[in-house]
Amino acid sequence: MNDRKPQNSASVAAAPIDCDEEEARLASRSLAAGDPTGWFEALYAAGASGRVTMPFDRAEAHPLLVEWADNRQLAGRGQRAIVVGCGLGADAEYISSRGFSTVAFDISETAIQVARRRHQATTVDYVVADLLNPRPQWTHGFDLVIEIITVQALPEPPRRQAITNISRLVGAGGTLIVVAAAPGNDHNSSELPPWPLTRDDIETFAADGLTIANIETISLPDSPSSHRWRVELYAAVRRTPATPNSESIVVHRSLHPLTERR
Ligand SMILES: C[S@@+](CC[C@H](N)C(=O)[O-])C[C@H]1O[C@@H](n2cnc3c(N)ncnc32)[C@H](O)[C@@H]1O
Repeated sequence: MNDRKPQNSASVAAAPIDCDEEEARLASRSLAAGDPTGWFEALYAAGASGRVTMPFDRAEAHPLLVEWADNRQLAGRGQRAIVVGCGLGADAEYISSRGFSTVAFDISETAIQVARRRHQATTVDYVVADLLNPRPQWTHGFDLVIEIITVQALPEPPRRQAITNISRLVGAGGTLIVVAAAPGNDHNSSELPPWPLTRDDIETFAADGLTIANIETISLPDSPSSHRWRVELYAAVRRTPATPNSESIVVHRSLHPLTERR
């Protein structure tokens, strides 16, 4: 599907520039101005205009989400899910297809517009919202919360607040699944995102009464030095604040033959 606006004859010849270059430019300007989230909308708008390639463009759900859902034969009928920083909607559509009544939100208005346009027959409720100021009615409101590579795009601050706010979306008896970059050799810039999540970041997800059920670090087949966290947490049937659980299982393995596209 073509997400670009019609181009005039002068711009037809101009191929879009790589969104990674534009991401670096916009993110460094935004971060220097003390605005850690302002660049997302600018980047998606540049993608939607055809000036740069569409950022965070994935047609398929994230392979680590799909594998996790398949392994546990995830069936969401009668349950509510929310997708954090949903971007263009691939993960939200997937989780909706597994039966969940699904809300998906992003800070970027353009990303939400493109997601709605791409998935016109969708039952997903796509919403423009800021994780740092989430809707009060979402607190403890979901059976399944999905966070895929949003937090790694945020510096500290506001990273810890973002993590806490994600955990607060999980309802009693609910599950949070987190997929994120883990420390490795492939991220050589500390100035620009993504910033891999540390073990401390992962433990912070457990701060609002969640328990870590499983932590994996997974190598990507096309880039063995790239590692991803996949972390599953759950909330007690009656939620009470708890200390982070350190007795979690840590598994390291290789992801094969699945691949991840950013
Ligand atoms: C690295 S992209 C990942 C997008 C999508 N999760 C994926 O896996 O393709 C990070 C996403 O988080 C969104 N985002 C960043 N800060 C946010 C915030 N404070 N509230 C909601 N969304 C946010 C961005 O607009 C962007 O779509």
